[in-house]
Amino acid sequence: MHMHKFEKAWLTFGVAALIVFLTVLGVSAFYLGNQPPSCLTTINPEKVDTTAPFDKPGLNKVEGKEWDYELVFVASAFSYNPASVQVPLGAKVKVMATTKDVIHGFEVAGTNINMMLEPGYISEIVTTFDKEGEYLILCNEYCGAGHHLMTSKIEVVKQ
Ligand code: CUA
Repeated sequence: MHMHKFEKAWLTFGVAALIVFLTVLGVSAFYLGNQPPSCLTTINPEKVDTTAPFDKPGLNKVEGKEWDYELVFVASAFSYNPASVQVPLGAKVKVMATTKDVIHGFEVAGTNINMMLEPGYISEIVTTFDKEGEYLILCNEYCGAGHHLMTSKIEVVKQ
């Protein structure tokens, strides 16, 4: 079979790109352990205020877990509870968030934390804040007339 040299070149490029892509994906998934967040943790959106740990929004110290603190957020149109929270520098924190009404976003500006909060589900991420300062939390899912007002703040402080 005769192939034009450009065709050969493109075919080689395509196969090489595919191998690079699959290698990057494989290393990320199996070696670095990056996985899509599971949506297995559910909650009754009507009973958020009475369901632990969402009955106590804010930073809670925990014992005997892989992380030192649980940072609990409840989102609703158009605010987060708590509206501001202090986190100790360098502590391992599990951020847990859910929403009481519609879909909201949960982006911590300046970090790679960016979650979608869906009614009925708990969104979680384990992280460590290594830099002192204020981190703005914003909603990046359009949720209604007050969407642009919806913010919170994490203050990372030395202790
Ligand atoms: Cu909440 Cu946009």
